[in-house]
Amino acid sequence: PATVRHVASQRPLLAVSHRGAAGHAPENTLAGLDAARRLGAETVEIDVQRTKDGELVLLHDVTLTRTTDAEKVFPGRSSYLVADFTLAEIRRLDAGSWFSSAYAGERVPTLSEALRRLESLDLNLFLEIKEPARHPGIERDIARELRARSIWLKHNRPWEPRRLIVQSFDWEVVRSSKLILPSVPHALLGRVPESRVPDFTWAHMINPNHATIDAAYVDLLHEHGFEIMPYTVNTRAAMDTVLFKGVDGFITDYPDAGQRAIRDF
Ligand code: G3P
Ligand code: CA
Repeated sequence: PATVRHVASQRPLLAVSHRGAAGHAPENTLAGLDAARRLGAETVEIDVQRTKDGELVLLHDVTLTRTTDAEKVFPGRSSYLVADFTLAEIRRLDAGSWFSSAYAGERVPTLSEALRRLESLDLNLFLEIKEPARHPGIERDIARELRARSIWLKHNRPWEPRRLIVQSFDWEVVRSSKLILPSVPHALLGRVPESRVPDFTWAHMINPNHATIDAAYVDLLHEHGFEIMPYTVNTRAAMDTVLFKGVDGFITDYPDAGQRAIRDF
């Protein structure tokens, strides 16, 4: 284990279930949230984008083609960008069959539906603002949605459970979101260069690709008061490796395997 541990690191290590539970069910679907719960996860990660008519939906890619049957339902469209489809159109898509016929008919959920499901499953959330440059101001829409369901804005003191983390690869948008939701801890995705780490005192967590970190980098983040939960850690060997580097948790498609690795650590 790392030599430097800060107060936040005394909290239990987390195996954050990625895109719902992407190793077990179609990513960013309600079925994925159910799977995460079934597999014993306590926290899930989801990706949020915005439709043409301003609705917040769970989707990872900027286009609909990989994880839905959009090309079949809307043949010949010049664009399959999420931002070029209305919610009503996206609702017609099958977001499960690409993964397995067992999930045929699974729909793309709205953020509102996902939050309600997470509440009923008692799951905590890492909410990624995905591709915000394509959805200007999306952080304000997300904040409005979270404020409307105020349970997500509670329990965010450092000594309380990690109820909600808002994160993005776009650090300017993370900053903007933090200004709107000051009580919510925020995370920067990607590897912040060592020299810039002290610039981000307003952030709570830095989550790089697991292949880009070593124990010295983890120690540096801890010295500056950050938690670190790298992505996407899917093999037992990679889980053991990041745990020995001293991380506070990790993001994984396999929350069951992740929890086993943490238990054995
Ligand atoms: O939570 C971090 C991780 O999800 C970032 O990568 O591409 O899966 O969104 P990606
Ligand atoms: Ca993500």
